[in-house]
Formats: sequence, C-alpha cells, structure tokens
Amino acid sequence: MGTASAAHLPVMRDRVLELLAPALTLPGAVLVDATLGRAGHASALLAAHPGLSLIGIDTDATAIDESRVALISFGDRVTLVQAVYDQLPQVLADVGVRAVQGLLFDLGVSSPQLDDPSRGFAYAQDAPLDMRMNRAGELTAADVLNSYPADELARVLREYGEERFARRIADAVVRERTQSPLTTTSRLAEIVRESIPAPARRTGGNPAKRTFQALRIEVNGELEALHRALPAALDSVAVGGRIVAIAYHSLEDRAVKRALADRAADTTPPGLPVTLERSRPQFRLLTRGAERPSADEVAANPRASSARLRAAERIREAA
Ligand SMILES: C[S@@+](CC[C@H](N)C(=O)[O-])C[C@H]1O[C@@H](n2cnc3c(N)ncnc32)[C@H](O)[C@@H]1O
Repeated sequence: MGTASAAHLPVMRDRVLELLAPALTLPGAVLVDATLGRAGHASALLAAHPGLSLIGIDTDATAIDESRVALISFGDRVTLVQAVYDQLPQVLADVGVRAVQGLLFDLGVSSPQLDDPSRGFAYAQDAPLDMRMNRAGELTAADVLNSYPADELARVLREYGEERFARRIADAVVRERTQSPLTTTSRLAEIVRESIPAPARRTGGNPAKRTFQALRIEVNGELEALHRALPAALDSVAVGGRIVAIAYHSLEDRAVKRALADRAADTTPPGLPVTLERSRPQFRLLTRGAERPSADEVAANPRASSARLRAAERIREAA
C-alpha cells in the first residue's frame, strides 16, 4: 500500500521528509526505517541528509535483497536487517546503537508484494492463498481459511477487514472446505462475491478487498506486532528525535494514535499542586489528528487513499 504501482512512489513522501528533517540534519544521525519495503522513503531521506545513517528493517527477504541493490550508492551508511519490527531493540543492540534520531513506520503491504502474483496478496490475480510477508512464516492464508472455526474466521473478517458480511463469508468458506480445501485467491474472491448481497456488491469497489486485507493482517500477526513494537520503538528515540508512522487501516491508526498520545500526556495524578518531573510528557505531537494524502496524490496513487500519518518528537528523557 505504501508505494505506487507503476513508479513505486512512496506515500506522503514530501511530508515524511519535512517532518523528519529537523531530527536528521545533525552529523551522525541514525534513522530506523522499520518497514523498508523497496526503500522509497529511505533513499529519499539518505539523499536529503548526507550525514545520515540508515538501519532498514523488513520481514520480507525480497524487500531486503532488492533494497540492498537500490541503496548500493549509499555504501556503508546503510545497514539492512531482515526482522519483524518488534525485534527493534535487539536489532539496535546488535549494531551497537542506543538511541536513534528518526523512526519511520509505513505499515502494511507494499506495492511489489501486491503486484507479485505468487505472493497471493491480490484478489485481482489468481495465485495460491499464501499472503506471508516472511515466506519462512508458518501460517498461510490457506491455513486460516481451511482450519479456523467459523466464529473465529468471522471475527477476523469483521475486525481486520471491517467486513459487514463477515458471518456469511465465513459460513460459505466453511461449506466450501467440507467439499475440498480452498487453495486459490480467485476461488476465495468468488466465494466472497457470492456471499455478498447484490446491492452491496455494486458499491465500494471489489468486495474481496476487505476479506483479503483481513486475512493478510491475521496471517502476518500485523496488529500484535505493531502493539508490541510501538512502545519499544518510542523508547529508542533520542531527545530531539522524531517518529513518523503511516497507517492504512483504522485499527493500525488507533494503535499509533494511542501509543503517541500516551507519551505526549502529562501523567501527574489529578489534585497534585505541581507537575512531577517524571510525569511530564516525553513527546510532543507534530500532527493535529491524522494527516491524509492530498487529492492529487490519491489520483496519482490510489493505494495512498487510506493513508493516515501521525508524527511526534521526543522532548525529554524517560525518567
Ligand atoms: C508499505 S510497505 C513500505 C514501503 C516503503 N516505505 C517504501 O517507500 O518502499 C510496508 C513494508 O513493511 C513490511 N512489513 C510489514 N509488517 C512488518 C513487520 N511486522 N515487521 C517488519 N516489516 C514489516 C512489509 O514487508 C513491506 O515491505
């Protein structure tokens, strides 16, 4: 979702550059791009700040391999690690970095992942039901569809896909798999289509979109990883350092919003006459609510349409 299909334009790139710039200008600044993808944001940031070093993380080995090539001209300013972003503290410890000046999360799936039919992320192309971002992961979309009880499947579709017809789709999947296991994206897309009442099919784009999103989030444990990752990521930001996060789904955005709001709040117990040093906010919010891409950007890159960007700056050490 983070990059345009044709040109792989990084989502809200100019705003990301603008928000991170004050933190990245000092020589020796370190940026962690926790969702490197094809290094669209990362290469723009490295080009804009000649003194900047990058630690790039992605769970997808192909993303790491292709970014290594794309970033070759930046030489030893670049360290790339295949990892889930909740392993950030370990990644930093391994490279001997204690605190970072910039942190970027551009969540979700990348355009190259969506566009590669063999990955099974796209409802528009026939492929095996895979959807693993890390191809060494154990759980595939086929496993979820062929083994989850109907209630559990309906919950996944409702929560992660915001699918109104979750129950009907889950029941149809269970009926289908008693005949033979589901194996292909095109068959799943058909089942979704057949489960949705005709009037609802005519609105809101391809009806399979929400089911595919939900399965992808479940297969990759995306929300659990994000909930674990954000507090640790915020702990790693140096005073004056900044974090930018782009979410594409309301649950992702809520997780980002809460994590930033927690650190930007004064936690002095009500009734105390003075603000306790340890209760003062650690961060200040740099965005008012969530920022959205411009209409021009969405026209050029429809995959940016659901993007919501939030940012914050560390203003003091944790007590
Ligand atoms: C939207 S793309 C990032 C695109 C990137 N900003 C660019 O400009 O090319 C999201 C990337 O995050 C990776 N990713 C998703 N969940 C992850 C996780 N829990 N840990 C590490 N990487 C993850 C995906 O494999 C994907 O490559």
